[in-house]
Amino acid sequence: MGKRVLIAYASKYGSTAEIAERIGQALREAGLQADVLPAEKAADVAGYDAVVLGSAVYAGSWRKEAVEFLESHENVMAKRPTWFFSSGPTGEGDPVQMMKGWRFPEAQKPIADRIRPNDIAFFHGDIEMKKLNFAEKLIVKGLKAPVGDFRDWAAVSAWAKGIADALK
Ligand SMILES: Cc1cc2nc3c(=O)[nH]c(=O)nc-3n(C[C@H](O)[C@H](O)[C@H](O)COP(=O)(O)O)c2cc1C
Repeated sequence: MGKRVLIAYASKYGSTAEIAERIGQALREAGLQADVLPAEKAADVAGYDAVVLGSAVYAGSWRKEAVEFLESHENVMAKRPTWFFSSGPTGEGDPVQMMKGWRFPEAQKPIADRIRPNDIAFFHGDIEMKKLNFAEKLIVKGLKAPVGDFRDWAAVSAWAKGIADALK
């Protein structure tokens, strides 16, 4: 049997959940066992050989479920191969450049430094106006953020393939 990988995610409107599912699918195709779970539902983290943790980004921060997962499972992740990803930027271009060098939430950098992940990815996201609440709509309009689904499935699959290769 292939190694067991946990893909834990935090998603408000579902687009990050779908990125996590795509990573899980790519890992399974590469012969690994992958469980894809909302971060707050993931249990027995120590029972996995590797961990992938991802979150949607809102106002420069990870969602609280991902932050809590990081804080609760720091010690296990520090002893396992670990990968982090964030999803957010809409529009064309390199996500890190679009977000002025942002790659990982500032508040969680000390924990990430202790865990020493194999890689940290930043993927394009999806903004659907009809899903947003009033305040979020105002923010998106104020920032003139492009609306629509800009998720880059090729980038997600390529990153997942790198995880599979590292675990073989
Ligand atoms: C109010 C609001 C604030 C956002 N702030 C950021 C941000 O600071 N950085 C970023 O990269 N994306 C930001 N985004 C884009 C979201 O991260 C993107 O829509 C993401 O795909 C949402 O994922 P989810 O569907 O899993 O919740 C923001 C979106 C909204 C609606």
